[in-house]
This record gives sequence, structure tokens and C-alpha cells, in this order.
Amino acid sequence: MQTIRSSEITPEHIYVSRRKFMSSASKIAVGAAMMAACSRQSDSTDTSLDAGNISTDVDELGDSWTNYTSIANYNNFYEFSVNKERVAAMAQDFKITPWEIDVGGLVKNPGRYQIENLLTKFDQEERVYRLRCVEGWSMVVPWMGFPLKRLLDEVEPTMNARYVRFETLYDPVQLPGQNDGWYSWPYVEGLRLDEAFHDLTILATGIYGRTLLPQNGAPLRLVVPWKYGFKSIKSIVRIDLVDQQPITLWMKAAPNEYGFYANVNPNVHHPRWSQDTERRIGELGRRDTLLFNGYAEQVDHLYSNMDLQHNF
Ligand code: MTE
Repeated sequence: MQTIRSSEITPEHIYVSRRKFMSSASKIAVGAAMMAACSRQSDSTDTSLDAGNISTDVDELGDSWTNYTSIANYNNFYEFSVNKERVAAMAQDFKITPWEIDVGGLVKNPGRYQIENLLTKFDQEERVYRLRCVEGWSMVVPWMGFPLKRLLDEVEPTMNARYVRFETLYDPVQLPGQNDGWYSWPYVEGLRLDEAFHDLTILATGIYGRTLLPQNGAPLRLVVPWKYGFKSIKSIVRIDLVDQQPITLWMKAAPNEYGFYANVNPNVHHPRWSQDTERRIGELGRRDTLLFNGYAEQVDHLYSNMDLQHNF
């Protein structure tokens, strides 16, 4: 993450309205069809997801959902651009079919999954989560997806598996940012096994009941709501169970700035800026950063014996 202006840093809060709003992939397909129909009419007529409409919904802390337009147009996806406002346009032709995800490493049943199979195999549920970027901005996103643990149960990690390693597609033709030698591509992220099995951890396949857009990490993207957004790796093609802590792209790029754990924590500051407060996209002013992004009750037991200053 690059240095950010102090004007970019602000607020936030907690947990999930967990309506099982869509129970199957077919409904995601209906969402996609609706979207296609709307965009055929013209962008300006597609007001169905505007702030006055669906975004009056709130999360369990009473925070409004961020409007769809902001979620779809303010993105970190360095494989396309480091400029958040350019990512959406650059990503629009990204090819997401066919798409396969290899799941392997220390598992009893390694497998290659077509994205369509994951959509039908696992119930797709809505999870409304706060997304807090390490840079100091945040959103409330109504994701669609399924718990990562469902897939892990399917492949059955062996006794030696201790971490999960995730990898984004490597394709410098489609992802021009991968020609930037400053970073070690492909994008890699990781979780400890218990974090990966936690019920809050999902693989996201949609937003606002619509199919995930390329700029948000289509067709499959990790979401770990109590951690900084950079853990939520996009456009995943490989998931491996491993015995060593994975070295992530950000740990390689700046080990003193980005750690493996990356739990949202107002008491552990980035070396170049404070994490006391954050800016909620769509709001003026700033709000306090919440420990574990407001999910402490659900996750603090995972870190009870750890020094979080050291394990940042
Ligand atoms: N995944 C990949 N492959 N490449 C990226 O650059 N950026 C991360 C994360 N996942 C990133 C990524 C960061 S820093 C954030 S804050 C979130 O994606 C942003 O997700 P959004 O654009 O959907 O809001």
C-alpha cells in the first residue's frame, strides 16, 4: 500500500446480518441476468442499487451499507493499477470464464474445481461485513459467498496442515500490473488453520446479490472481516494447505510494515500512520477504529496467548 494523504484516513464497526437471502447459485445467476438487463437499458437508468434504495440497510452495529457504486469503483487491485479509481475500467474485460481453482497441498482429497461447481455445491449466503483497509478507509459490504471451512472440510486437511496459502491468477497480459517488478507476483496471502476454519471467514462470489465484478476479485475472493483488507485476496486460482507460515506478497514487499496476521487493531500503528481512526467511504469525518474491526467477541480467543504488537 502506498503512502496515503491524511485526508484519506477515517471510521467504523461490527458483525453480520446473516440473512440467508439467497440460498443457491441460481439466484446469483438471476442477479447477473438482471444486471445485464439493466446495463443494456443504459447505466443511467440503473438506479436499483442506489443509496436511496437498498443501502438504507444497516449492519448489526447500525452502520449503513456502502452503496454499490462506491464498492465497484474504489478498488485496490494492484494487478490492474495502483490508482483505485482506474481499476474498474481496466478490469472490465478480465476473463473469468472458464475459471478453475486448484485445492491441494497437505490434504486427503486434492481437487480442481470449476467456479460453477463451487457455486452450486455450496449454499451461497449473504454476509454483511465491514471491510477495513490498512490505509485507513472502510466500507460495509453485503457479500454473497460461502464459508471457507466448507471447502476445507471437503478436501480434508491432514494432521500436518497448519496454514492455508492462497494465490491469485498470474497472467501479466491480462494483469498488466504484474509487469511491475517492485512486487513479487502472483499475489499470495495466508491464514492460520483456525482462522481459515472460523465461521466468519468466507470465499465471496457476489456483492449485493449480484455476481462479483472483476475489480472486486471475481470470480472468487477471500474475505476475513477482522483483518485488514489486504488479506482478502482476489481472483484466487490456488489454495494449498501447508505446514509453514506462508510468506505473502506484502510481507516480501515491506516486512516491517505488513505482517502475516494483519488484525485490525487501533493499538498497533502502521509505521507511517496511525490506526486510531478511519474514514468510512460515503461519510464525512472520521470514526474510531475498532479492535478486530468490531468482531472481537467472535475472534479474540484466537489470539489469547499472542503479543499482538509483535505479531502484527
Ligand atoms: N488481491 C489482489 N490479488 N491484489 C490486490 O492488489 N488488494 C487488497 C485486497 N485484495 C489486492 C487484493 C487490498 S489492499 C484491499 S483493501 C482489498 O483487496 C480491496 O478490496 P475491494 O477493492 O473489493 O474494496
